[in-house]
Amino acid sequence: MLILGIETSCDDTCAAVVQAQSATDPNLTALSNVIASQDHLHQKFGGVVPEIACRRHVESLQPTIREALSRAECDLSRIDAIAVTNRPGLIGALIVGVSAAKAMALALGKPLLGVHHMESHIWANFLAEPALQFPFVCLIVSGGHTDLFLCRKPGDYEILARTVDDAAGECFDKCARALGLGWPGGPAVDRLARDGDASKVRFPRARVGDSLNFSFSGLKTAVLRYIESRPAGVADADIAASLQDAIVSVLVAHTLRAARACSVGWIAVGGGVAANSLLQSRFRQAASQDGLSLAIPRPRLCTDNAAMVAAAASYRALAGDFDNLELDARATDALAPVRTLQRI
Ligand code: KG4
Ligand code: ZN
Repeated sequence: MLILGIETSCDDTCAAVVQAQSATDPNLTALSNVIASQDHLHQKFGGVVPEIACRRHVESLQPTIREALSRAECDLSRIDAIAVTNRPGLIGALIVGVSAAKAMALALGKPLLGVHHMESHIWANFLAEPALQFPFVCLIVSGGHTDLFLCRKPGDYEILARTVDDAAGECFDKCARALGLGWPGGPAVDRLARDGDASKVRFPRARVGDSLNFSFSGLKTAVLRYIESRPAGVADADIAASLQDAIVSVLVAHTLRAARACSVGWIAVGGGVAANSLLQSRFRQAASQDGLSLAIPRPRLCTDNAAMVAAAASYRALAGDFDNLELDARATDALAPVRTLQRI
């Protein structure tokens, strides 16, 4: 089965073609994964401007879909289903993708599937690691979310912990701005931190009561204050390395504790912050120490893309569980119920 994926929930216009084998063994392969970045349009505003994002999606989506089909050496007639991110996200941005997907489904007589953005980040792991098995614990960490999921089976997820204030990506972005690193800040902090000494500053690692929930607003404030009155001898690179260390240490520690509490054999990660180089190496180290198997998508599959959208739609598509043309875009939507996991 060939699935065309479309993703326009934020500021990247994305299209991809993914091949899925069968319901029992999906064996997902991305035949193409095209991302038209809008970073250059939003950079001078220091964040995503929704109006600009929507207008650009309108201009870029058709060429991006054509490019995805061409790189997959596949024409539209061979596509078996169209999958589109329909929730949550910037409403105007989502509507561009959903309208295009519905128009194509209607005109071509192809089945349609609406996909939750967070579920698609979870499924990027099946493209990265075909051996990944349910159940697993998955950390999704992006500009808007820091959520730890217990993934029991396709479509059955539970939130074990989440941020009570800022997302980790937001913390990276705000601190990067204070360091004059521009937007998006995460990749810039990642690069700068390579030349820094993380032991120069000890930024706080917050605990949220007895739970595995995350909190990054205190860390953000501590970094901003530190930058205002920094002592001599501490370079921007040292601050970047210390900030990165504080964020990554907490993310890795909570994910490992959740995996132990849930007795799973696999952990997985996703979302833009999961592209962070220190996060990737610390997860590899921690998983091997704990005897856990790890799925970790390469950076291009961590940040927003459409291959993960098609992948997340695959189990429904293979089961023939499609949406109809009443599919709507929704700005907010909870993927899963929340169970507060106590610290162990
Ligand atoms: O998943 P994503 O592409 O979009 C959302 O759904 O939010 O995540 C974007 C976030 C931004 O906050 C960006 O700064 C962060 O991911 N990010 C990184 C890195 N690459 C992207 N943070 C740390 N290190 C990176 N290498
Ligand atoms: Zn995302």
